[in-house]
Amino acid sequence: MSEGTKVAPPVGLLAELTHRCPLGCPYCSNPLALEGRVDELDAAAWGRVFREADALGVLQVHLSGGEPASRRDLPQIVGHCAEAGLYSNLITSGIGLTEALVNNLADHGLDHVQLSIQDSEEASADHIGGYRGGHAKKLQVARWVVATGLPLTINAVIHRANVSRATAIVELAIALSARRVEVAHAQYYGWALANRAALMPPREEADAAWAAVEAMRGKLEGTIVIDHVAPDYHARTPKPCMGGWGQKTLNVTPSGKVLPCHAAETIPGLEFWTVKDHSLGDIWRNAPAFNAFRGIEWMAEPCRSCDRREIDFGGCRCQALALTGDARATDPACHLSPRHDVVEAIAKADSAPAIAPGLLLSRLRAGAGESVRRGFLDMPPRPRRSSTAN
Ligand code: SF4
Ligand code: FES
Repeated sequence: MSEGTKVAPPVGLLAELTHRCPLGCPYCSNPLALEGRVDELDAAAWGRVFREADALGVLQVHLSGGEPASRRDLPQIVGHCAEAGLYSNLITSGIGLTEALVNNLADHGLDHVQLSIQDSEEASADHIGGYRGGHAKKLQVARWVVATGLPLTINAVIHRANVSRATAIVELAIALSARRVEVAHAQYYGWALANRAALMPPREEADAAWAAVEAMRGKLEGTIVIDHVAPDYHARTPKPCMGGWGQKTLNVTPSGKVLPCHAAETIPGLEFWTVKDHSLGDIWRNAPAFNAFRGIEWMAEPCRSCDRREIDFGGCRCQALALTGDARATDPACHLSPRHDVVEAIAKADSAPAIAPGLLLSRLRAGAGESVRRGFLDMPPRPRRSSTAN
């Protein structure tokens, strides 16, 4: 695609401010090779990225991580976002936030907070995150956020260890005065892909949780908005991943690489440009990685002639690669994929009842490019440590 070719602007930008995080959730969407603190963009560089995003047409910035509160300059970064006229959403575990910092972020123009919880039950939640006292801290953070008047969304990833409490998670979000709750069945990329056999619930449990949360929807209209993300491996058609490759959003990594999705670096041969060398607009329009799967020209059959090709865009490129070895293939989550049997076989095998202890990869204590193995349901959470941002 040449300079000047018309490409519709993105709506959202995910700013991964850091990959540092005090938690070690086994489904983390960060890459297995974490970027280190020394490579992180500074606040001024993020300010430039936000101005370029605004010029490009971006409306919303999701300030994410890792844990964004691991950065001492988070208020300045939020301020740069507000100065650029962008709606800012802080995606946080809550660990590292204090009441004073929440108020400071609100004063710097933060618009919304999305707070993750690991479960509705404290012991299980702390175990999943690998952080003793984490759940209680999150409940406290939720109260501070609501007290500032900022809208609050609660987000929880659903997997084998908490699938029976999906509705209790919605009830907890209501008790915390959240306006929205996202109940997202685990998506298997990065750390979650490595831990898939320990995370995937049996199909009947996933189906029951799905039906129970859907049943709450009507009853809770006007009380809370429920965003519900389906379990891919049990679906009939795939999700429209990222709203289509290079169509709605872009991700900027802590070091400034710009990706079409959080897992794009798993696809071999793609060339990623960085905000250090190019403007965001140039990257969005011309970077080879963004044009690799834009539109429908790249599609093979059965997607190419399917009437859903501009609805789900053939599903997820990263999942197609991970499960078939070919990023151009139809996402095998689709029942029309010639490789759909792969998904069915994995769903059956990985949701078997036994969980082998010690199989889980955790990013706890992991530095850049490192990972640590730990048991999931059999290891006590590590002791609480200071929540001061490092
Ligand atoms: Fe979507 Fe392709 Fe399946 Fe059609 S064949 S439903 S476009 S993934
Ligand atoms: Fe990369 Fe779906 S996560 S396209």
